[in-house]
Amino acid sequence: MVVRDPALPQRVRIYEVGPRDGLQNEASLVPVEVKAEFVRRLLDAGLTTVEATSFVHPRWVPQLADAAELMGRLADDLGEASRDLPVLVPNERGLDRALELGLRHVAIFGSATETFARRNLNRGLESQLEMFAPTVARARAAGLDVRAYVSMCFGDPWEGPVPVAQVVATGRRLLDLGAGQLSLGDTIGVGTAAHVTALVEAFADAGIGPDRLALHFHDTYGQALANAAAGLRAGVTTFDASAGGLGGCPYAASATGNLATEDLVWLLTGLGVEHGVDLDALVGTSTWMAERLGRPSPSAVVRALAQSAP
Ligand code: HMG
Ligand code: MG
Repeated sequence: MVVRDPALPQRVRIYEVGPRDGLQNEASLVPVEVKAEFVRRLLDAGLTTVEATSFVHPRWVPQLADAAELMGRLADDLGEASRDLPVLVPNERGLDRALELGLRHVAIFGSATETFARRNLNRGLESQLEMFAPTVARARAAGLDVRAYVSMCFGDPWEGPVPVAQVVATGRRLLDLGAGQLSLGDTIGVGTAAHVTALVEAFADAGIGPDRLALHFHDTYGQALANAAAGLRAGVTTFDASAGGLGGCPYAASATGNLATEDLVWLLTGLGVEHGVDLDALVGTSTWMAERLGRPSPSAVVRALAQSAP
């Protein structure tokens, strides 16, 4: 049953990260043709923004070493539309690889904490920005749209709780470089609802409204959906999620899967918030992917609907 809450936004955008955040953390290498089919199925299910892969160093993330090959296959299948699939680029080398393929949306990924910046990017808090500055400037000059992730916005496995002001300061600097949107990551899933509200409000107090923000929750402690609901209530309209709840970060101890797209879709549907996704098609895709990965999806909605499927 749909019970609409008039205080909530009319519509949200789901930013699907399964093929990137989901598959980057898989123990086994997923064949490139399976990845391509995964992306195609996600688009067919109505997801309009699907982050396809990551142009990072293949030694750092071997699971996504086939990034160029995957984008080539998707260009063959989808044509021009494949260029609108966003990809991660940490630096100018990554940007060059994306530009060679004519891609139009890239995402840099910074950290709000020193330790994670070093572990994930081999750079400190300041020098990550030195790496991003020319990357964003060149991307913008080439007409690309740039998203900036901020990791460890709630807690960090090495540094503990992360002060809201520290997150806002990092976000501000990433926007000042020219990023269009900030995706605030709870990389290890330790955040809770009031913390989300406080963070979104702190950004608003700094002049950065919820329209510039996306929320990116991992579900380590089962809080991702409650946190998304808090973000929705605070006016955020872009939510990152991964089909079937795949995911994690290979450089963050205790980062498990992302908020499952199906769980988010179920919540939004019940609240009468438009999202444009065909839930049955999405569950079918996650069930198909789970078979390929050899383990069931952790998503409660996938489990419930897969069992009740005729
Ligand atoms: P580095 O070793 O310091 O790199 O790594 P470097 O700049 O010193 O270059 C060393 C060599 O790497 C050079 O080659 C470069 O050309 C090459 P050589 O001259 O030795 O032959 N190189 C590259 N090759 C391919 N693609 C590139 C690239 N860059 C340099 N882009 C680097 C620095 C940033 C590259 C490395 O630390 C890296 O790749 N890190 C990526 C880690 C990662 O992908 N983590 C997961 C994504 S983040 C995440 O999941 C969190 C998120 O979901 C949000 C959340 O949950 O919070 C987004
Ligand atoms: Mg993530």
